[in-house]
Formats: sequence, C-alpha cells, structure tokens
Amino acid sequence: MNLPNLRADLLAAPDLQRLESAARATHKPRMLLLYGSLREVSYSRLLIEEAARLLELMGAEVKIFDPRELPMANSVPKTHPKVQELRALSLWSEGQVWCSPEMHGAITGIFKNQIDWLPLEDASIRPTQGRTLAVLQVSGGSQSFNAVNTLRLLGRWMRMFTIPNQSSVPMAYTQFDAEGRMKPGPLYDRLVDVMEELLRFTWLLRDRADYLVDRYSERKAAFKLPEAM
Ligand SMILES: Cc1cc2nc3c(=O)[nH]c(=O)nc-3n(C[C@H](O)[C@H](O)[C@H](O)COP(=O)(O)O)c2cc1C
Repeated sequence: MNLPNLRADLLAAPDLQRLESAARATHKPRMLLLYGSLREVSYSRLLIEEAARLLELMGAEVKIFDPRELPMANSVPKTHPKVQELRALSLWSEGQVWCSPEMHGAITGIFKNQIDWLPLEDASIRPTQGRTLAVLQVSGGSQSFNAVNTLRLLGRWMRMFTIPNQSSVPMAYTQFDAEGRMKPGPLYDRLVDVMEELLRFTWLLRDRADYLVDRYSERKAAFKLPEAM
C-alpha cells in the first residue's frame, strides 16, 4: 500500500498488552461534580448533590465545586484561589459530572465560565483529557435536551469520555421535596442508572486513559529528528 503522507514509523500498532493488563488501581474513583447556578435554591445544585450521594454510596470519592466567587474567565490572573481550586479539583478527578440548567435553550454562563477556566493544556498538563463524564440538566419546561447536548459538545472539546446515558430533569421545580431531596420516580431511577454507568466506565478506563488518548498527529508534531552529527 502506498501512503506517502503517513509517518508509518510513528503509527503505533494496537498495544493489547497495555490495554488488557494495565495495573488496576484500587483506590476509590475520584469524581468532581460541577453545576451551573448561583440561586439560593438551585435545582441543578440539588441534582448534583443527589448524584454525589449516589456516587458515594457506590464507592466513589466525591467533591462538588462551589461556583460562587469564581471570577469571570480571564478577568483575574489564574493564580486566583478559586481558579486554582477548580483546576486542582479537575486534575485530581478521574471522572466528572456536569449539570447545567437550561436557559434560553442553552447552558448557563455560570456553567460555561467554569469550563472556560480549565485549560485544555497548560505546560503539558491536561486537567480534563481522558476523564469520564456524565452530563445532566434541569429545566423548567416539559422536556428538553439542549443543555445536555451542549455539555456533550463541551465534553468532546475537553477530550473527555462522555458516557452514553444522561439525565434531563424537566419541570425541575416539581422533582424535589422541601428538604431538597429528589422525589422517587423514573427520573430518580434514571439518575441512578447514569451514576452507575459513569462509575463502570471510570473503573474501566482510568488506568488506560493515557493510552486511549495518545494521538498519532501529536506524536508526529512532537517528533524531532536527531541533531546532525
Ligand atoms: C432566563 C431564564 C431562561 C430559561 N430558559 C429555559 C429554557 O430555555 N428551557 C427550559 O426548559 N427552562 C428554562 N428556564 C427554566 C430554568 O431551566 C429552571 O428555572 C432551572 O431550575 C434553573 O436552574 P437552577 O434551579 O439550578 O437555578 C429558564 C429560566 C430563566 C430564569
């Protein structure tokens, strides 16, 4: 086969050894949860808190980032403590859950601002690449998927493994009780499904993420011919 534009020497054959027998970490999966509202009673926060309880029960270590006091992207240096906190949490995480309210058919600025503070790459460190991701949304209307669709797009952009299942909670104001707990029903069961699937994908992928996201084009860009003797 004639492929003159291909650097075949940089093309890695499937390394089944690396895929199959990578050591399995045994620590609790580290999950970061983000939500997208500053309202005092926020259903996206309540849904994230419910997701956090489920993940903890299923054996994960869970952290929720509080988006209050996070400045607008690039309005302060990245040394700002809230920016540092968010970046450190993302680096620490092996999987994430993102929940945005739907507003005007889109995700909120509050949510997007958090992602805008996460660099795709900073000094060769990639705080989101290779992590698993589950996407959730709340909305006031009778059903909608605009926010989860946008979150999926963002997940791809941040090079994350977004799981197939997702949760969209319509008329969110009807789905939580006075204590802020999600009411039983099919929407709650769906959330359980999504968290269960997220943890399974995280167990499966976390030890192999580096290999799975290793790209030919980046190996090629990084390749330097040896200095002439
Ligand atoms: C300005 C604004 C725009 C909204 N746009 C939509 C929308 O496009 N679709 C929808 O279903 N709900 C919409 N809603 C309802 C919100 O999704 C709902 O109130 C949600 O619970 C807000 O999230 P939070 O409770 O976490 O603050 C909108 C609400 C506001 C205030």
